Amino acid sequence: MKAIRFHEYGDASVLKLEDLPIPVIAPDGVLVRVHAAGVNPIDWKVRAGYMKAVRPFVLPLTPGWDIAGIVEAAGPLARFTPGQAVFGKTDGNRDGTYAEYVAVKSDEIAIAPGSMNLVDAAGVPLAALTAWMCLFDKLQIKAGQSVLVHAAAGGVGGFSVQLAKLAGARVIGTCSAANREYVLGLGADEVIDHRTEDFAAKLSGLDAVLDGVGGEVLARSYGVLRAGGSLVSIAGPVDEAKAKELGIIVQRAALGVSGARCADLAALIDAGKLTSDVAARFPLAQAAEAQRLSETGRVRGKILLTMV
Ligand SMILES: NC(=O)c1ccc[n+]([C@@H]2O[C@H](COP(=O)([O-])OP(=O)(O)OC[C@H]3O[C@@H](n4cnc5c(N)ncnc54)[C@H](OP(=O)(O)O)[C@@H]3O)[C@@H](O)[C@H]2O)c1
Repeated sequence: MKAIRFHEYGDASVLKLEDLPIPVIAPDGVLVRVHAAGVNPIDWKVRAGYMKAVRPFVLPLTPGWDIAGIVEAAGPLARFTPGQAVFGKTDGNRDGTYAEYVAVKSDEIAIAPGSMNLVDAAGVPLAALTAWMCLFDKLQIKAGQSVLVHAAAGGVGGFSVQLAKLAGARVIGTCSAANREYVLGLGADEVIDHRTEDFAAKLSGLDAVLDGVGGEVLARSYGVLRAGGSLVSIAGPVDEAKAKELGIIVQRAALGVSGARCADLAALIDAGKLTSDVAARFPLAQAAEAQRLSETGRVRGKILLTMV
């Protein structure tokens, strides 16, 4: 089978299309004939070597941890059968999904949403699971609460706006002017242009912040919360001392796998309550171009690598 591999850390040019054996499945695993892999910022952060202190991968490595495809073969203890369309976020500690075939465990996947093109479904799991984890496991958002979602036009942000609205929250999103109507269309009640407006000066007394930007944006977000409010960051280290001083709760978040939650996401998609916007689709061989696009930090919605 064809798969993308990198043998050394570096820029996108280290990504090579190679021939590899089709992987072997575990007794509770399935072999997925991949239709598409979602491209996420973590893919190029790993490739560039930014994560090697916390995730010591053995190279060469196949990047990508979002998948949608058809079950080709199933182990005797698997919960899926050949021919089923599935999607999921695979275990980030092993080879990823930029490949024609991927072996996964049953608990990493769910039946894909029937109402969405299977290729496009590959853009959902990692970003939407992250949004869900942040909003409901970490921030514990409830109806009537106010939440600021940074990078609201991005992969995680776009799902966060939609899921927070579904929960009955009041949602404020940050994005550039070009994405204003898009973010409002996802359900945001208010949009702040991060290039021309100062969110920290405009906002105060909020219940929650979901930060997907880090750096200065994260540093300036603590002050928009009410006492007892909550902040979660997926993009930078949080300042515990500052949180204590302000009487707020701050957390970092790191995503695991959850096929069961993917099933919940598929149900929301099939009920017409959750959508996924696709920014671009690239053939597998153009993985480097796909990652370069992700690295711009300007992507609206999801990037996909297609194998069919
Ligand atoms: N910890 C975890 O488990 C976890 C999981 C998923 C993602 N992450 C991390 O979370 C971050 C976001 O991921 P993602 O997939 O959503 O990224 P993404 O899709 O690449 O985000 C791109 C978006 O960021 C927006 N943006 C850039 N700078 C901004 C700023 N200063 N203020 C507001 N918006 C800004 C852009 O909107 P405009 O063009 O409109 O500015 C663009 O739409 C990444 O760092 C990723 O690695 C962590």
